[in-house]
Amino acid sequence: MRVLTTIDEVRAARGAFPGLGLVPTMGFLHEGHLSLVSRAKAECGAVAVSIFVNPTQFGPNEDLARYPRDLPRDLAFLQAGGVDAVFTPSPSEIYPAGFATRIEVGAVAEPLEGASRPGHFAGVATVVAKLFNIVQPTRAYFGQKDAQQCVVIRRMTRDLDLPVEIVVAPTVREADGLALSSRNAYLEPAQRAVAPVLFRALSDARLRFEAGERNAEALRAIIREVIAREPGVDIDYVSVADPETLRELDSVGTVGLASLAARIGKTRLIDNVLLGGAAPDVRAATT
Ligand code: PAJ
Repeated sequence: MRVLTTIDEVRAARGAFPGLGLVPTMGFLHEGHLSLVSRAKAECGAVAVSIFVNPTQFGPNEDLARYPRDLPRDLAFLQAGGVDAVFTPSPSEIYPAGFATRIEVGAVAEPLEGASRPGHFAGVATVVAKLFNIVQPTRAYFGQKDAQQCVVIRRMTRDLDLPVEIVVAPTVREADGLALSSRNAYLEPAQRAVAPVLFRALSDARLRFEAGERNAEALRAIIREVIAREPGVDIDYVSVADPETLRELDSVGTVGLASLAARIGKTRLIDNVLLGGAAPDVRAATT
């Protein structure tokens, strides 16, 4: 496995990897990330993973400084996963002095996470575009766990004619339903015990949808009610929206995206389920 830290090293190595799949990450890897690696390995001639805690997607009061990091562990994990190359640039390699350009994706970046985290998606879009340009993958892999991020990246890729195929893979969950996330490491045991309520609430809404409920506000109310029964969970938003435009729905047609953000103590978690026509989520094998 090649470990590359500079753009020049990536450019020099790129020719050795035809049909390259890229999995962009911020490290502290778990089985959700590994599911993207496995999918990429199945579909691409070679797989590269980037590990970069991207400062521009964190707000001033967010967790950039305390975001969990463990590069030696991540590299061992990726080596075992059969990855061909890892790109771990420094912040100054990606954002040298004088860096000034930002990609603003527009309406799909505005609601939900965009409303709660101003500037977040400009940071994501800019770094992902740079990673695409540096690594020049044939395909790039993203997780449905971050549903709005997938919509934003698809929009940007189409709008800017980036020659990359975007692949979205299902959310990997713990046995009790909690979506795997690097931020789960922040949860104290009592907080970890209540966290599965987020997926329970979304699943209840999905069941009600499958039973015929089409009123989006009724589905949002179910999610809020289930979460309200669990003390210590503060809802940031609950949404039932069009999965492509991310506009809130009055009534759900054949498909919808139920999503939420909530705080448990200081930890902010997000999750979502698709309503209608969706691939099921997958459970982590070792947890
Ligand atoms: P990060 O949070 O490290 O996630 C990297 C990729 O793993 C994302 O595509 C994310 O959706 C996916 N992922 C995370 N948890 C998952 C789970 N439980 N199941 C399936 N996939 C999961 O997302 C980012 O990093 C950054 O915003 C990035 C795209 C790297 C840009 O900086």
